Amino acid sequence: KKTLHDLDLKDKRVFCRVDFNVPMKNGEITDDTRIRAALPTIEYLKENGATVILASHLGRPKGEAVDELRLDPVAERLSELLGQEVVKTDAVYGKEVNEALSQVSDGDILLIENVRFEPGEEKNDPELSQAFADMADLYVNDAFGAAHRAHASTTGVAEKLPAAAGFLMEKEIEVLTQALENPERPFTAIIGGAKVKDKISVIDHLLDKVDNLIIGGGLAYTFIKAQGYEIGKSLLEEDKLDMAKEFMQKANEKGVNFVMPEDAVVADDFSEDANTKIVNISEIPSDWEALDIGPETRKKYARIVNDSQLIIWNGPMGVFEYGAFAGGTKAVAESLAQTEGYTIIGGGDSAAAVEKFGLAGDMNHVSTGGGASLEFMEGKVLPGVKALNDK
Ligand code: 3PG
Repeated sequence: KKTLHDLDLKDKRVFCRVDFNVPMKNGEITDDTRIRAALPTIEYLKENGATVILASHLGRPKGEAVDELRLDPVAERLSELLGQEVVKTDAVYGKEVNEALSQVSDGDILLIENVRFEPGEEKNDPELSQAFADMADLYVNDAFGAAHRAHASTTGVAEKLPAAAGFLMEKEIEVLTQALENPERPFTAIIGGAKVKDKISVIDHLLDKVDNLIIGGGLAYTFIKAQGYEIGKSLLEEDKLDMAKEFMQKANEKGVNFVMPEDAVVADDFSEDANTKIVNISEIPSDWEALDIGPETRKKYARIVNDSQLIIWNGPMGVFEYGAFAGGTKAVAESLAQTEGYTIIGGGDSAAAVEKFGLAGDMNHVSTGGGASLEFMEGKVLPGVKALNDK
């Protein structure tokens, strides 16, 4: 697999796929982490004499132009961060892009429009990937966050040009591969989030790797029910009860310490200002629902985190969007910030949580991938990574 250092960039046009799928509110970027994460690659390309053509998706426009999902705010923020003009086209390819390309040269940066405005992007249409290839001499993929998608700009174009991974892509793969293949021990995974359904593959895969598997969030209550407790109105996936039992049995066979909440913050309503109380897991009242892990659980989880050499965290411990139920997620974030072990935040909601609590800088690695890091932790080979490896 090639790295950026293997490419001769002088006087070359580089088609660089980045993941600038950033959260926006009323046309404003609310978190520019993903843009900042791509800067080392962009700067390296331009400093080594390339003309940089950047491509990204934003949101899910389904093959048509949607004004709210244009990349103009992204171009503006990127230009501020780089201290350099970024040429932005309103088209993804074609005449307008070619004209813009004829005006740029070494060290210039051009951002084409949201690639998902083209129906060919998600279909990995060879015509579109050829159009991308025709713009450039080289292909660089730095979009780890989109590496689980086999699209024209993430896989198709990689087959048509000399290709390499960008620095962010390399770092993400290196950190996650090292953790899963050659972990420092004790190795602890913390899996939260709302649904068992979304975490089946990752729990299954991690049970082959970790020493401790800690669960929290809405999905924990299906496990607690599977142990024979009553869980009131807490989230339950009836059809996953057997699966939950199998996982606990597998953990037992593998000698993995499977750790579940001991107490919970329960509420009489799913709302910010519901009445709440703290109860033992065996005492959830029948018409209340558990929306966060309780204080004893937080202490127990912090002790395990503190004694671990490697911790991977994916998924919140409760409904952290509401202040009343954010305490468990915050406590876990704080324990990760304090441990001497190596900490990896597996993207998505957990990354948003550490960012919200101002603790992102205290983690060893915060993945820029949501779905991508989850699929990586499931043991899957991501199509965007495979396309580079196949070169
Ligand atoms: C993400 O935000 O996880 C990536 O940018 C991928 O976006 P997608 O789920 O719309 O493909």
